[in-house]
Amino acid sequence: MKRNAKTFQYFNYFCDVKKISLKIIKLNNKRTIILGIESSCDDTSASILINGEVKSNIVAGQDVHRTYGGVVPELASRAHQQNIIPVVDTAIKKANINKRDISAIAFTRGPGLLGSLIVGTSFAKSFALALDIPLVEVNHMQGHILAHFIKNNENKYPSFPFICMTVSGGHTQLVLVKGYFDMEVLGETIDDAAGEAFDKAAKIMGIPYPGGPLIDKFAKKGDPKKYKFPISNLDNYNYSFSGLKTSILYFLQNQMSKNQKFIEQNKADICASYQYTIIKSLFKKLIKATRDYKIKDVAIAGGVSANSLLRAELVRIGKQEDWQTFIPPFEYTTDNAAMIAIAGYYKFLKGEFVGQNIVPSARLKI
Ligand code: KG4
Ligand code: ZN
Repeated sequence: MKRNAKTFQYFNYFCDVKKISLKIIKLNNKRTIILGIESSCDDTSASILINGEVKSNIVAGQDVHRTYGGVVPELASRAHQQNIIPVVDTAIKKANINKRDISAIAFTRGPGLLGSLIVGTSFAKSFALALDIPLVEVNHMQGHILAHFIKNNENKYPSFPFICMTVSGGHTQLVLVKGYFDMEVLGETIDDAAGEAFDKAAKIMGIPYPGGPLIDKFAKKGDPKKYKFPISNLDNYNYSFSGLKTSILYFLQNQMSKNQKFIEQNKADICASYQYTIIKSLFKKLIKATRDYKIKDVAIAGGVSANSLLRAELVRIGKQEDWQTFIPPFEYTTDNAAMIAIAGYYKFLKGEFVGQNIVPSARLKI
């Protein structure tokens, strides 16, 4: 009796191994199709990649936060729940594939808002289970960086090791990228992120959320040297933006007490000067890091990398410092699922899958 049970166990084990190896052979024979899912903050996104090439990248934003001047976590997760199925469905249809052709599902495990991450993670787990395909977890910040490896027309990709300055609404990091998943954070913000510095100043000025793109727009007609704001002077490669935010608050309160129309009359100059200070502070540490580590390939990533002054300065300073510079196309700067799918694609090639017991992590580290 005992022996029969053991034989049965071996038989089961053999069947499982056989099933797995059959699956691997099947996967090797076809195109690698990755479905990426991103839901870390206030954008619900799904993307289909075939052999590293983007076939669809659907992003549904959430206007519901506008009236609050920032993301409201509870409202964000509710909106993700409403959006996730239509967004995934549209991504599959736009890519002109059948859901049965998908090789694996890659999803953002963190960092981000827990309620938002739970929606994407739960959806990815259920869909992978239903389709009986592997599940791949992706770190959102690594996704932003690996967006540089999405197939592009010029076939231009950074070489390892390179430094990526990742600037978003939640993070500001200088990352030494030694391999696809071998990354070291050299420095980061100790308080507000660069995107937060943009958004919070915008809120003070009565500019709607997210303020970054609008400050960028108004700054184009302003004088960046008109007003002086402080730049933090931390050791090593860390950043701090909270002092800057306080300084613009006091500056505007003081000016408004003398002239109620100060912001309205000087919006372009205020935006240009404030933006200039953030960008100057970002490059100060980036230049130091590239010189210290003798790095010549330099990339930017994250929502703030859409900023026009940041992009122009990367090119200008890049020439001065003899860098090879890498600027992501606009659609891959702010949160999107194509960056999650490309990271998932490289993990898929390594066979790095996760099980159904995986849970999201709001503070996941690189
Ligand atoms: O990467 P992302 O989409 O979301 C996070 O992971 O946080 O970044 C969003 C941030 C927001 O703070 C937004 O204001 C900022 O990126 N942003 C910009 C620009 N476009 C987006 N900041 C400055 N200039 C822009 N053009
Ligand atoms: Zn992001």
